[in-house]
Amino acid sequence: MTGKPDLTRDTIVAFLADIFDRRGGEEYLGEPVTMAEHMLQGATIAEQNGLPEDIIVATLLHDIGHFTSEFGTFSMDDTEDRFHEDAGAEVLAPFFPSVVTDCVLYHVAAKRYLCATRPEYFERLSEASIHSLNLQGGPMSAEEVAAFEQNPNLEKIIQVRYLDEAGKRDDMETPDFHHFAPMVQRIVDQHMAAT
Ligand SMILES: [Fe+2]
Repeated sequence: MTGKPDLTRDTIVAFLADIFDRRGGEEYLGEPVTMAEHMLQGATIAEQNGLPEDIIVATLLHDIGHFTSEFGTFSMDDTEDRFHEDAGAEVLAPFFPSVVTDCVLYHVAAKRYLCATRPEYFERLSEASIHSLNLQGGPMSAEEVAAFEQNPNLEKIIQVRYLDEAGKRDDMETPDFHHFAPMVQRIVDQHMAAT
């Protein structure tokens, strides 16, 4: 492990593209898509539906934390699936607006939230997603639901969660990361200019 890469606003997008290019073909456990296909499908569906760029980019990057070993900040004891949402949000936080990092950070919590509040949501979960739900603590309690609803980005967090579920198709063609790269850079540049 070589330590955290020295990322800047000018290198973060290439850093992410490189992860997609080298590691994107890895299996998304229990699903009929690779990790890259999963994230690209969700982002493509968001783009086809005319959703805002922050939603498209958040969906594109929501599982980037599965590649924690690329970030140089986590120990060898970390398993690939453990708190991947924390890892992803942490690497994105310096460069992306909080709406994007919140969508990444809370995409697992959003599943627990929706299972507690929308019975029909549970029906659409894949088998692998139900399995991980149990590992992640199951549906939220009433107290957890009330606390989660305080998040100002709640609506977008939920939208990204639905796109996450949608991006598990074995029959969908998508553009690759490089199609989205200028959009990702735009979000970074807007954020850095505003801070
Ligand atoms: Fe996902």
